[in-house]
Amino acid sequence: MNSIEVNKLTKKFGSFIAVNEISFNVRQGEIFGFLGANGAGKSTAIRMLCGILEPTSGDAIVGGFSVMNQSDKVKTQIGYMSQKFSLYNDLTVEENINFYGGVYGLYNNKLAERKRWVLKVAYLEGKEKILTASLPGGIKQRLALAIAVIHEPKIVFLDEPTGGVDPISRRNFWDLINELSQSGVTVFVTTHYLDQAEFCNTTTLINAGNIIASGSSKELKTKYLSNTILEIECSRVVDALDILSREKWVDETSIFGNYIHASVKDEAEGRKLISKVLTSDNSINIKRMDKIVPTLEDVFIYLLEKDTKKNAD
Ligand SMILES: Nc1ncnc2c1ncn2[C@@H]1O[C@H](COP(=O)(O)OP(=O)(O)OP(=O)(O)O)[C@@H](O)[C@H]1O
Ligand SMILES: [Mg+2]
Repeated sequence: MNSIEVNKLTKKFGSFIAVNEISFNVRQGEIFGFLGANGAGKSTAIRMLCGILEPTSGDAIVGGFSVMNQSDKVKTQIGYMSQKFSLYNDLTVEENINFYGGVYGLYNNKLAERKRWVLKVAYLEGKEKILTASLPGGIKQRLALAIAVIHEPKIVFLDEPTGGVDPISRRNFWDLINELSQSGVTVFVTTHYLDQAEFCNTTTLINAGNIIASGSSKELKTKYLSNTILEIECSRVVDALDILSREKWVDETSIFGNYIHASVKDEAEGRKLISKVLTSDNSINIKRMDKIVPTLEDVFIYLLEKDTKKNAD
């Protein structure tokens, strides 16, 4: 069952198209990742899906209601943690919970029950009188997420929830996202961290307002990249990268630590040409050249370059 159905959703600011006819579905209980660089259109899309920004055209059904015509109903179905969302630093943990609980219409027994849940998942039992400002970043984010679902919505939208959070806390935060998903909540999460795509059931890649790929991380690695990726360890890495990136038969090059990734259509032919152009023509010493399983980063570099070339044409 779909909990979100997006149909040609578009937002223009004047003549600028921030989100361009995007369409996709999100299944109930899935973790749906929306991945894109700064300015790609993630926040604009999420704000339309939450019913707080009116679309220019198109529509989306969120929790059974239209964002175009029933945005007030949509708001009752969801939790939302905006990119700039923060708890009140000058309030205690408990005061923040009480405040947001009230915003969502929770009082008395229900509020007390949900407060216990929030404190438990944020690892803050017995610490409700602490000032929110003094919490470590990771705990604060867990608290913010727990509060965003204090009213038990079936869908929660998280806009870059782990920006500026250290990797261990990020991991912790994803554990909570998984728990929510396992309990049936649909989690729609935007990020520009590639590694987080691995934690999502589906990742959709948005570039300059357009969706350019979608699938599980396994599908993205196999479906979109038919080329062979060769990982090359060699001397004079920067020169080698420069040389290879100028060759027409090399589709993409990128650097991973001290190694080069070169994407070629045919493995045998690619190996032969790379050896020739680096070794015989330019006296670069190749220590190793291996075919590798592409990383998501390889896939995204490939897709982004393809899309950028298409837009330039
Ligand atoms: N109210 C607005 N008026 C005009 N342009 C806007 C407005 N809001 C967003 N934009 C533009 O729309 C584009 C998409 O912005 P958006 O905030 O959706 O991107 P994003 O993917 O969330 O980026 P980031 O990773 O930086 O948060 C950007 O070019 C932005 O400058
Ligand atoms: Mg944003």
